[in-house]
Amino acid sequence: MYCLDIDTFADSNGDGVGDIQGLIGRLDYLARLGVTCLWLHPIHPSPNDDDGYDVTDFYNVDPRFGTLGDFAELLHQAGNRGIRVIIDLVVNHTSDQHPWFQSARSSPDSPYRDWYVWSDREPADRHQGMVFPGEQHETWTYDRTAKAWYYHRFYRFQPDLDTTNPEVRDEIKKIMSFWLQLGVAGFRMDAVPFIIERTEPGDPNPDLDFEFLTELRQHVQWRRGDAILLAEANVEPDQLPAFFGDSGGSANRVHMLFDFMLNGRLMLALARQDPEPVIEALRDTPALPEGGQWATFLRNHDEIDLSRLTAEQRNQVYEHFGPEEDMRIYDRGIRRRLAPMLNNDRRRIELAYSLQFSLRGTPVLRYGEEIGMGEDLSLPGREAIRTPMQWSYEGNAGFSRAEPEKLVRPVIDKGDFGYDKVNVTLQRRDRNSLLAWFERMIRTLREAPEIGFGSTTHIDVPMPPGVLAHRADGPTGTMVFLHNLGAVDAEVDLSLLQPEAELPIDVLADRNYADIGKLDKLNVAGYGYRWIRLRRAWSS
Ligand code: NOJ
Repeated sequence: MYCLDIDTFADSNGDGVGDIQGLIGRLDYLARLGVTCLWLHPIHPSPNDDDGYDVTDFYNVDPRFGTLGDFAELLHQAGNRGIRVIIDLVVNHTSDQHPWFQSARSSPDSPYRDWYVWSDREPADRHQGMVFPGEQHETWTYDRTAKAWYYHRFYRFQPDLDTTNPEVRDEIKKIMSFWLQLGVAGFRMDAVPFIIERTEPGDPNPDLDFEFLTELRQHVQWRRGDAILLAEANVEPDQLPAFFGDSGGSANRVHMLFDFMLNGRLMLALARQDPEPVIEALRDTPALPEGGQWATFLRNHDEIDLSRLTAEQRNQVYEHFGPEEDMRIYDRGIRRRLAPMLNNDRRRIELAYSLQFSLRGTPVLRYGEEIGMGEDLSLPGREAIRTPMQWSYEGNAGFSRAEPEKLVRPVIDKGDFGYDKVNVTLQRRDRNSLLAWFERMIRTLREAPEIGFGSTTHIDVPMPPGVLAHRADGPTGTMVFLHNLGAVDAEVDLSLLQPEAELPIDVLADRNYADIGKLDKLNVAGYGYRWIRLRRAWSS
């Protein structure tokens, strides 16, 4: 899965803002990379105070991106290349500019008044539960026009919809139906734990209405049997199963959840050069129900959220990956891309992505990571990691023909990550580039369906420091992986796997290693990795 913002990907009409036609023009690039599903960040009209996560019309596309007709064409063209498209569904809240909110605040008699969450008096929990500490100071704001307080889990310009209201529930289903009918393959559901909150003034820990998720799942499946719900639910591991739901052992709420817990542990493991946090994550994550799946990621469009680590662990990650105050955000995270965090060390970038892609679940890749793009810390907040895609060494990184001051965001034009050095065109010409590596790695992944689809287990035998051994087993066979998170070369004894091994071979590795032999003397270089096919089941 590949995620991108249309506005920073490719600008076809030269107005400085990426658009749908620009994206259509780059679908062959994505197909060649091996992408089979695109996740588009919000595509709807929006004042863009939160990069589109503040919607003013759920039934349209942002006119800066094109028209609904362009969007239908995108779905067709993506489908031709075997790429499904899912879109962000942001229905916890609307923009305060949305006509529903404008009407709701105008009068207690508005038909939309009860679509939002109000309080006549100042709620006691006004200053609790902020998602963006530092940028957000309250969760209840007084509206002079409405003469009442409204609830907003996120920024004050994002009033929460009241999803206990049956009319709101019906409207959300209608929005889903509309986009499914147009041909999207599902939704990345924003802020799911907050969507299902039964908010009451003065109660900072409201009940969660999981039945609403069951309803949405039934609705989606009725309209399109193979559509998916991929939820953003950054909660404690023991709360995750309720989001999948369970009906006779099968998931009956969302199909997929982002693996936030693994994300934090991966960062800690990379910082410490020690696989133990990943092993813990594999051990501590609740079992998946039938039909459920994880979406794994290293980077996304938000900060790296380290809030589920202990203060000591968080400080270790900060020390290595966010040493300067300016690299940190919201007292919990890091606003950087992966390549600069790893000092642009090619070995460590490959190692990190090899690890992510070989672990359980469906890997999600953020645009630009495949060429090792950097961040621009002079931009505010999370914009640092939302700069235009670097297509070439031509003006504006080949992103747009507009005058540079018209660009939606400046391109990175200085230092090691400037577009003269980091771009698709140069990497296309170089067989040894990071981009070429990603293409090869993803092809290899697709030849090994047991990765992600099968089970993922830690191989618990004595290992040299820094080395992780894990395996993937499925109906198609068995893969074994070695990752050396440390800088020192290591030798690993996996001879216990010998009875299962049928002509074991390296299918991907950081270099050419000597023959596998009896698996008792497997070398893996510092920051190296090996993907070994142990066995293939020919019959399935
Ligand atoms: C989560 C999204 O990932 C983030 O970018 C956004 O700001 C909030 N939800 C509010 O919609």
